[in-house]
Amino acid sequence: MSDPDLRQIVKDKYGKAALKVAAGGRASCGSVSGREANPITSRLYTASETACVPPEATAASLGCGNPTALAELRAGETVLDLGSGGGIDVLLSAQRVGPTGKAYGLDMTDEMLALARENQRKAGVENVEFLKGEIEQIPLPDKSVDVIISNCVINLSADKDRVLAEAFRVLKPGGRLAVSDVVVRGEVPPAIRRSVELWIGCVAGALEEQEYRGKLAKAGFTGIDVEPTRVYRMEDAQEFLSRAGLDAAAIAPQVDGKFMSAFVRARKPVSA
Ligand SMILES: C[S@@+](CC[C@H](N)C(=O)[O-])C[C@H]1O[C@@H](n2cnc3c(N)ncnc32)[C@H](O)[C@@H]1O
Repeated sequence: MSDPDLRQIVKDKYGKAALKVAAGGRASCGSVSGREANPITSRLYTASETACVPPEATAASLGCGNPTALAELRAGETVLDLGSGGGIDVLLSAQRVGPTGKAYGLDMTDEMLALARENQRKAGVENVEFLKGEIEQIPLPDKSVDVIISNCVINLSADKDRVLAEAFRVLKPGGRLAVSDVVVRGEVPPAIRRSVELWIGCVAGALEEQEYRGKLAKAGFTGIDVEPTRVYRMEDAQEFLSRAGLDAAAIAPQVDGKFMSAFVRARKPVSA
């Protein structure tokens, strides 16, 4: 499948998820079971965090971690969220960087941008801007951002080298990359890699850990660290494999403990 086809499928899927939330539902990564049952996207934020954002931002949350909790954001910093969805991490970042800082969200899906802008309006925050565009071509100048966050989006890109090169370009020297992503340890059965349903569900496009580290280093990043935040066992794999229509009983034992949500950190050298 070509990159543009895959991008359109991703856009359609997340456009529908945004419309569902706008109509009063919850976003879901699968068609059969609801979001609460999803082992990847459920239970990521504390009650005090969700109390600070509109309920629709929480309902639209489709990440696999909580990058703002781990990114050590400071007052006055400029933050960019790659694939900002309904905006929950942008709104939380905006609180952390305060009125002298700024939080940008970047997303390619019109329905998600509309939802995020509505959530910004409800939250009444001004130091936030949602931008339309692709993470492979970030619409911001070189060296303009202190911290890049992202929550379960880089795995969806068919051109991860380009995403990381763009992230490096827009970061200021000394800037930090602090993203939550699905990462794989070891070999994954080909049936998983071939599944479009599992690609849009953030599983099939996940990078192997060493490959992720290699791509970050190739883009110029240093201080690379991959910290598991949730490791998926056989029962979790059964859930996402059966949702994708694959033979869960046969494949799940082969991926027991191989997929994880991880916090990926790296830094742009001060001299770059
Ligand atoms: C799994 S959702 C995560 C949304 C959000 N980060 C969160 O935690 O709820 C993926 C989001 O990334 C966006 N997205 C996927 N690929 C993208 C790309 N190549 N460029 C820009 N946005 C993209 C989708 O439109 C969707 O809103």
